[in-house]
Amino acid sequence: MRLILVGFGVVARSLTDILTVRKQELLERYGMHPRVVAIVDKGGSVLNPKGLDLDEVRRVKSEFGTVAETPEYGSKRTSAVAIIDEVDAEVVVEATPTNLETGEPGMTHIETALKAGRHVVTVNKGPLALALPALMEMAAYNCAYLRFSGTVGGGTPILDFGRKCLTSDKILSIEGILNGTTNYMLTEMDKLGLTFEEALKAAQEKGYAEANPALDVDGWDAAAKVTIMANWLTGREITLKDVSVKGIRDVKPADLKNAAKQGGAVKLIGRIGDGEDDISVAPTLVKRDDPICIGGTLNAVRFHSEFAGNEIIIGKGAGGPETASAVLRDLLEIRERMSVN
Ligand code: HSE
Repeated sequence: MRLILVGFGVVARSLTDILTVRKQELLERYGMHPRVVAIVDKGGSVLNPKGLDLDEVRRVKSEFGTVAETPEYGSKRTSAVAIIDEVDAEVVVEATPTNLETGEPGMTHIETALKAGRHVVTVNKGPLALALPALMEMAAYNCAYLRFSGTVGGGTPILDFGRKCLTSDKILSIEGILNGTTNYMLTEMDKLGLTFEEALKAAQEKGYAEANPALDVDGWDAAAKVTIMANWLTGREITLKDVSVKGIRDVKPADLKNAAKQGGAVKLIGRIGDGEDDISVAPTLVKRDDPICIGGTLNAVRFHSEFAGNEIIIGKGAGGPETASAVLRDLLEIRERMSVN
């Protein structure tokens, strides 16, 4: 299986780590022989149709900040679109940063790959939140797979649980904590009496918040995840604009004290209910004995389905190796469906 990596941040680098460390196991256990044939980052690209030396590329990236400096195979050429079009590969892994306003540059990368008949695995929420129904249609039209396990829950298989494990059931509602940064902030505000501003500073110092923290605190990151789940797990065809979104900016220490008096805590809850319009993100009082009332940066999602009843999945919602493990899961699924080794 030949791969083009577009974006070489922490998730894509972790993926190359896993591919290196698990090379033998992937071959023996799954018959998979992944070869990364091109990587594009902001400073340039590196290309070898026979497969790149991933240890070398990672070393160059950490020394020079770009893969362009890789001896022999590196170049200053930054056009991911041209590389996706020209380089022979079965799968494009799109891992550029999320932009929830335009979806770019990820949107163009994904469209280009699908139109060229290449499968796509992405961890980029922007294009999916803005245009998942159209992108799924484009994938089907071009006989390509579009997979995105890592966009919800990092490595925690929330999408796979709903899609695969509940396949015989009917999901009636989904609700839970989908954003680790705001969960950390609300936990600290509750525990230490911090204000919103102090909690945001603490989250930034720990490196949890997105570069643009509005994505976390105003609820947009959680709303993007809700949009992806609604499409993938409940068959709705919606985009980000169909989600009612309220973040945690107005949550005051007094609100948390009131919640505590009622035996609960305030959590930013994403919800997909029964009704067509019942799709939201909002600060919500959750009882402390409810299993989804978890602290720290964890994510927790409850599925309520017709036959199986309530099921809850809890795990880390972010992180390089964690999210890279979701990318590998998607690659293995594609390999199984395509019998590409
Ligand atoms: N900023 C996100 C979070 C990262 O805090 O959950 C993972 O999508």
